[in-house]
Amino acid sequence: MTLLHISASPRDALSHSRKIGQLMVDRLCAETALVVTRQDLAQTPPPFPDGRFAEASLCPEDRRTDQHRHDLEISESLIAELEAADALVIDTPMHNFTVPAVFKAWIDLVVRPNRTFRGSPAGKVGLLKDRPVVLIMASGGPIGEAPPAQSDFLTPYVRYVLATIGLTDLTTVCLDSLLRGAEAVERAETAATARLDDIAAHVSERLDRQALAARASAET
Ligand SMILES: Cc1cc2nc3c(=O)[nH]c(=O)nc-3n(C[C@H](O)[C@H](O)[C@H](O)COP(=O)(O)O)c2cc1C
Repeated sequence: MTLLHISASPRDALSHSRKIGQLMVDRLCAETALVVTRQDLAQTPPPFPDGRFAEASLCPEDRRTDQHRHDLEISESLIAELEAADALVIDTPMHNFTVPAVFKAWIDLVVRPNRTFRGSPAGKVGLLKDRPVVLIMASGGPIGEAPPAQSDFLTPYVRYVLATIGLTDLTTVCLDSLLRGAEAVERAETAATARLDDIAAHVSERLDRQALAARASAET
C-alpha cells in the first residue's frame, strides 16, 4: 500500500507541521506496511496555473491537441501520484488564514473538471475513490472560538476542496499559538502527538477495509 506524504512549510527543520507530519507517517508505517511517496511542495513548488494550462484543462478530452496534453503533463503526474495513494498525510503551515501558495498551486493542478471532478445539476461530483487523509496544520496565533482567536479558513477550505474530488475521510490536527513562546509550543505538540495513535488506528482500519474491497472486486 502507498502513502503520499505532502509537506508545504518553507521552514524545513524548524517547521512544527513537518515535525508532527513525520511522526504521523512513522506511526502509520509502524501499523501497516506502506511505501511512502514524498511530495515536498516547498522544495519543489508546483507551477501556478497559466493561460495555457487553463485552456488545456477546459478543453474537452476528444479535442485536445499535443500542445494541450503537454500543458497538462505536470497536473497529470500529480493526479497519478494522488490516484496511486491509498492514504495521504498533508502537513502545512497557515499563511494569512489559509493554505500557503505552494499548496494552493498543487490544489489548482489536481482539482480539474472532467478529470478529478465533474459538474452535475446537484453540484460538483468527485471522481477519485475515497481514501483517508490526515491534515496537520500549524499556525502562529490562536485558533478557536474566543477572541482574540483568528478565523481558520484553511481547515474548512481543505475539507471542501478535497471532498470536491471525492476525498471525504479527512482527519485534522491543529497546532496553534506556536509563536506564543516555548510553553505554548510544548502544549500544542503534546496535544497533537497524543492524538496520533488514535488517528493511525483509524487510518489502518480504513486501509484494511480498502484492501478487502479491492480483493473482493478482483475476485468477481
Ligand atoms: C507568510 C506567512 C503568513 C502567516 N500567516 C499566519 C496567519 O494567518 N495566522 C497565524 O496564526 N500564523 C501565521 N503565520 C505563522 C505560521 O503559521 C507559523 O509560524 C507556523 O508555525 C508555521 O508552520 P511551520 O512551523 O510548520 O512552518 C504566517 C507565517 C508566514 C511566513
